[in-house]
Amino acid sequence: MSDCCAKQTPVGGALDMTPYIAAVRAHTATGSTPPRCFVLTFGCQQNVADSEKLAGMVEEMGYEITATAEEADLILVNTCAIREHAEQKALSVVGQYKHLKEKNPALIIGICGCMVAQEHRRTELKKSYPYVSFTLCTSVIYRLPQYLAEVIANGKRIMRGEEEHTVAEGAPIRRESTYRASVSIMYGCNNFCSYCIVPYVRGRERSREPAAVIAEVRDLVAKGYKDITLLGQNVNSYGRDRADGYAFPQLLADLDRIEGDYTLHFMTSHPKDATRELVDVMAASRHVAHSFHLPLQAGSDRILKLMNRHYDRAKYLDILDYMREKMPDIAVTSDIIVAFPSETEEEFDQTLQMLRRARFDMIYSFIYSPRKGTPAAEMEGQVPHDVAAARMTRLLALQNDIADAQNAKLVGKTVRVLSEGQSKNDAAVYTGRTDQNKIVFFAEPVPEGEWVMVKIERAAAFALYGTKNENKGD
Ligand code: 5AD
Ligand code: SF4
Repeated sequence: MSDCCAKQTPVGGALDMTPYIAAVRAHTATGSTPPRCFVLTFGCQQNVADSEKLAGMVEEMGYEITATAEEADLILVNTCAIREHAEQKALSVVGQYKHLKEKNPALIIGICGCMVAQEHRRTELKKSYPYVSFTLCTSVIYRLPQYLAEVIANGKRIMRGEEEHTVAEGAPIRRESTYRASVSIMYGCNNFCSYCIVPYVRGRERSREPAAVIAEVRDLVAKGYKDITLLGQNVNSYGRDRADGYAFPQLLADLDRIEGDYTLHFMTSHPKDATRELVDVMAASRHVAHSFHLPLQAGSDRILKLMNRHYDRAKYLDILDYMREKMPDIAVTSDIIVAFPSETEEEFDQTLQMLRRARFDMIYSFIYSPRKGTPAAEMEGQVPHDVAAARMTRLLALQNDIADAQNAKLVGKTVRVLSEGQSKNDAAVYTGRTDQNKIVFFAEPVPEGEWVMVKIERAAAFALYGTKNENKGD
């Protein structure tokens, strides 16, 4: 396994970046126009949030953000390591940048994110991608000015692993949207699900100070943000590293007290830690959306045990049923892994049974991908790809029917939608999302970032179709 996670510095133990920022600024101010930076992001919402920080920092250092790699003077690739495919995609893109570096020898290429926290990937980049200038791990992204200043000053490559795991506050954020934002409330994961690389590449759980989170959300609401998602690998363990017992339900309740016209989402929750107290806070809140992402992963108790998930089917259904009892309109989504090592046909059928019972509004499903250094990668009974693919096809077909039926229940109802403006595929159609994150299409022009009440007339598995309805909801 990689050498990351070896050290941890206390929360807030960040290094002062001011001199490095000044050094890079002196460099970027030399030309007649500002140099340009292209940021490419792979992976989850946490990575998207990290990229917004990377972009905020480079802007602060005098770069202009550009939408294409071809015209960039600095390229930052924010990588994902969750499955092999994600890593291969990132490596292939980095491979394509070789000719850009040949055309422009001054181009700086930095590889950030989860992939480079693994030593074997850094070694590979060092050997086979000599035009890459530096690697920067997720828990030290605040050090970007330092790395950049060093590369600019002496041209040496910096292929370092993670030096510490800290919570660095105050990095500038360049938000992609003016109405939808995510706020990291904690970093890292302690769970070590046996298939998962995240605890190795993102380190142990560190919670941000409640006051810092509350101030950030308050600021977003004041700026007019309508939809705010709290992010963490397992938000339910927020605060466990604190001595005062302040936990996620308290944070959610405190955030809900902020006055304004906004909705709160959060992800991800671990079923072993999702509590009735949390559900009660949601049900009593004014701003928390009735939407819950609760990864099941598998429907067999034996497989759940092998996955090191610390819950069984009964426990999962218990909290799910409680949610539906307290919030009948709640949309529940989930993650499913197909073909975990040694999963039998019967055990896979148990996953299908759980889908029929749980009736998720949507699932993200993945074929198991062995991750170097995780326990599952060494387990007996790795499932052949053709078997896994056949199971995935059955899973998707079943879920399609379930999502279809779930969405059909909304036909005739009027729901609140946050407009995302004109559809990318058809300028005559507008699109947006409900509080439950369901995609809605409607004909009436509603500027992006504004709420609109839409009466649903037709439903499909992945989208709803309707008409603006001024006469409120039901
Ligand atoms: N193979 C396949 N899927 C995985 N996930 C995490 N690790 C793996 C892996 N090795 C899935 C889980 C998790 C989601 C973010 O990615 O379902 O909830
Ligand atoms: Fe990975 Fe499990 Fe942590 Fe989620 S809870 S990030 S699946 S180890």
